[in-house]
Amino acid sequence: MALRCDLIIRDATIFDGTGAPRRRGDVGVTGDRIVAVGDLGGASADREVLAHGRALAPGFIDAHTHDDRAVMCGPECMTCKISQGVTTVVVGNCGVSLSPARFKRTPPPPLDLIGEEGWWRFDSFGDYAHELKKRGSEVNTYALVGHQTMRVEAMDGDVMRVAKDSEIEHMRLRVKNSLAEGASGFSTGLYYPPNMHATTEEVIAVAEPLRAMGGIYVTHMRDEADRVLASIEETAKIGKRVGVPVWVSHHKCSMPENYGRSTQTLPLIEAINQTQDMFFDMYPYPAGSTVLMPDRLREDVKVMITWSIPHPEMAGKYLSDLARGWNTDIRQAAERLLPAGQVTWQMDEEDVRRIMAHPMSVIGSDGIPHDAHPHPRLWGTFPRVLGLYARELRLFSVETAIHKMTGRTASLFGMLDRGEIREGAYADLVLFDADTVIDRATFEDPKQTSEGIEEVWANGTPTYVAGKGATGEKPGRLVTRNRV
Ligand code: ZN
Ligand code: CU
Repeated sequence: MALRCDLIIRDATIFDGTGAPRRRGDVGVTGDRIVAVGDLGGASADREVLAHGRALAPGFIDAHTHDDRAVMCGPECMTCKISQGVTTVVVGNCGVSLSPARFKRTPPPPLDLIGEEGWWRFDSFGDYAHELKKRGSEVNTYALVGHQTMRVEAMDGDVMRVAKDSEIEHMRLRVKNSLAEGASGFSTGLYYPPNMHATTEEVIAVAEPLRAMGGIYVTHMRDEADRVLASIEETAKIGKRVGVPVWVSHHKCSMPENYGRSTQTLPLIEAINQTQDMFFDMYPYPAGSTVLMPDRLREDVKVMITWSIPHPEMAGKYLSDLARGWNTDIRQAAERLLPAGQVTWQMDEEDVRRIMAHPMSVIGSDGIPHDAHPHPRLWGTFPRVLGLYARELRLFSVETAIHKMTGRTASLFGMLDRGEIREGAYADLVLFDADTVIDRATFEDPKQTSEGIEEVWANGTPTYVAGKGATGEKPGRLVTRNRV
């Protein structure tokens, strides 16, 4: 009997996510799964899409996001991601997660990146997962729980010190319960004030449940500038002591005096991988973005304001221009803008390319979804890697680019049956034009959809169609690390 599917995408150039060479063929989908790949000439379907040779890839996995709240806020928040072909996001990064913690007032920066008052109501990860399921989402969510969130809660806001044993025990239990309720790992943001007073030993103690429960440790390291090598060593030590894989977030060599040092960091990461697992993600821009921190500003590093509570009209403006207009120095100008966010030109394009091209790297946007004038990585990361770095600059093949956004990411995080086009895998798919795909979001005009992304499916259901936008469907699910 001839095969009957819900959907067949015919005559596509299939990039299967493993890095294997592209091949021409058809993909059949029934329910939430890919049921056949190859020549499906004898099969029929309720819906047939003629790809005419355009590219079909596994849906992109955004390895580093701050979408904890955005995933439940509908197309208004998630069009930035689904319009790039993203079907899965990793939330809870940099030690910042929306659960497990309940706060009456907005917590200190950088926790305010993801939620103001009213959103800090998830006393457990289970509560968060329940709300996510109830509201639904355009994308699949893979979640970490954050040390900063747990510190602010356990230490009742008094975080500029080492945690006491009882507080560490409280956090450790939080991690354990969160993993039992569907979280996949634990993240830190040791660079930030609420986290910087945590010693290596505190991190090891809080992370301890990861080993028995098969979780992963992910970190925005203590220092990505002068002490970047020491920070990588600290991360490795934590992984070794806890006995789990570790993940370095948004790997970079920050500040002008450290430009070029990816020639040191990458060999160090390779050496560490001889004896333990260390992975890393990166985003394709020479500028970073986070909350505005006046005491860390420098005259020689350009900064743009992304949001400001007292001065919302200054979003998108350069801090140096504001300081000139106000007749102050940049630090005083920044104080006036708080709480606020910043884009910082803190990297060397050569390092960005070297890290991106390294065979171990995977792509994560680090987009900040609720900023008034966000860093363009929020809307442009994945099409930029495909269009600019793979097609135009030939930093690597399209096959490799896609592997860094799909198959490699899924296997390192333990996302079972995702990130690959093969029979039996989930039907997370993106159809795009490999000749035209490119980001259009810029630092000046960041909220722009990309070109060349034609249709996106999560778990077999369309979430985005070019020309129409978000479909309004919410087929996304919570994805939990496969623990075998
Ligand atoms: Zn970070
Ligand atoms: Cu981040």
